[in-house]
Amino acid sequence: MDPYERKENDSEAEVIWNRTTVTPKMRSAAKKQRSLCIWFTGLSGSGKSTLANALEAELFRQGYHTMLVDGDNVRHGLCKDLCMSDASRSENIRRVAEVAKLLVDAGVITIAAFISPFASDRAAARALFAEGDFFEVHVATPLAECEQRDPKGLYRKVREGVIKDFTGVDSPYETPLAPECVVGAQGESIRMSIIQLLGLLSSRIKDREFEVDR
Ligand code: ADX
Repeated sequence: MDPYERKENDSEAEVIWNRTTVTPKMRSAAKKQRSLCIWFTGLSGSGKSTLANALEAELFRQGYHTMLVDGDNVRHGLCKDLCMSDASRSENIRRVAEVAKLLVDAGVITIAAFISPFASDRAAARALFAEGDFFEVHVATPLAECEQRDPKGLYRKVREGVIKDFTGVDSPYETPLAPECVVGAQGESIRMSIIQLLGLLSSRIKDREFEVDR
């Protein structure tokens, strides 16, 4: 049962949208950058967190203001009440997409790394952002490779029957049909993937009016 669900006799919350004097564009410009959400999706063990971390480190080194929101981390706090059922995964993605939107509105280049297995949840996340402000990266490492890496020993537990509803095994992963970028499918190195990503991102994150040497 959802404790927050609106019941028949509950009054509807009358919530209006307050316009702010300082706009998202102004916050972004103050940091001399253009903020957007870079969303990594892929199987467990595909390398999402590693790539997201490496990308953030490189952008930070270049002087950009960044934030990384990672699946494993938010499940210790904001989303610790959620499990791995389909409904919980959707709620997980809904919450973190809203957080990413707030961060982007704050002018921060936001990197999210979540399995985010369902196309409808990723589409709903994308819909929160202005055109061009959601950059989807499919980390397309094949299942066999993820299973062989098994960095957290989870695939072994799945094969032993200890973990159920595991993405790619007995829970679906809906492959993105039109992501902005695909990495990891050919066994590329992390360095190669980061170079590919930076090539696609650099013109989007530079603020043309406040061009600075980085
Ligand atoms: S999502 O489906 O809601 O997007 P999320 O990225 O938060 O998943 O998952 C975080 C981590 O949970 C994964 O990296 C993985 O290590 C772990 N995990 C635990 N149980 C499962 C499961 N049944 N399926 C997939 N990942 C799981």
